[in-house]
Amino acid sequence: MKVGVFDSGLGGLTVVNAIIQTFNNAEIFYIADTQVAPYGIKSKEEILQHSFEVTKYLIAKHEIDVLIVACNTATSAAIKDLRTNFPNIIIIGTEPGIRPALNTTKTGSVGVLATRATLKGDKYQLLVNELSSSNSVKLYEQACPGLVEQIELGKIQTDDTFDMLENWLKPMCENGVDTIVLGCTHYPLVSSNIKKIMGENIKLIETGNAIANRLKDLTKEKNYATFENIKVFIYFTGELNTGMVNHILKDWLLGGKIIIRETKV
Ligand code: DGL
Repeated sequence: MKVGVFDSGLGGLTVVNAIIQTFNNAEIFYIADTQVAPYGIKSKEEILQHSFEVTKYLIAKHEIDVLIVACNTATSAAIKDLRTNFPNIIIIGTEPGIRPALNTTKTGSVGVLATRATLKGDKYQLLVNELSSSNSVKLYEQACPGLVEQIELGKIQTDDTFDMLENWLKPMCENGVDTIVLGCTHYPLVSSNIKKIMGENIKLIETGNAIANRLKDLTKEKNYATFENIKVFIYFTGELNTGMVNHILKDWLLGGKIIIRETKV
């Protein structure tokens, strides 16, 4: 099975991690669109255009069977058009896990961290409207400008990243938020900071496992040729912080489960 995965940068590797956990054989072609990152401050048209370029590249060069848009922001802006324009491949998107958060919260107060583009997007607005008609849960939504850049630079355990998060999370803490939706695939990489601020009992909802399970469901009928192990090919359009790549995929690298090649395109 040839799986194309893309994100603006390294965040989608949190989804790749979940796929590696679920599958023993697949070739993963990952694109970090770092020349354009961050997507979250771009217009819908720009995000759509870049999502199309990346998808066309993955189909033409790597003949992918499945595309995973491992980015909430690109899913919000482009998933509908991608499905219409590329009907011959399976396309899976990423959406903030509001539904599971509503089932998890005990206090009825849920935080949502996402990019500005995701929170403003029709897709998110529709989801929240639909769910709010049958739920009394209060949502505390917070865009996190600058956080993706910090993560791309590998500035995870730094004071400035901690301060940014503390500033956004304090009001959630004061309002009894017990569950936080990580509505950007980069944000699981700062989970330990979020726990330091919100307390160890905070429930963090990320979507990597749900995407891997969806991939399993949608491909079980298909008879894709099998590979002996997982191969991950990482391509990037601008710069790539290889230290961060190794940090994110370290468990698999140490276990020798994956083979990685990094190439600039
Ligand atoms: N990882 C992304 C997401 O899930 C994109 C972040 C960005 O580039 O702003 O939304």
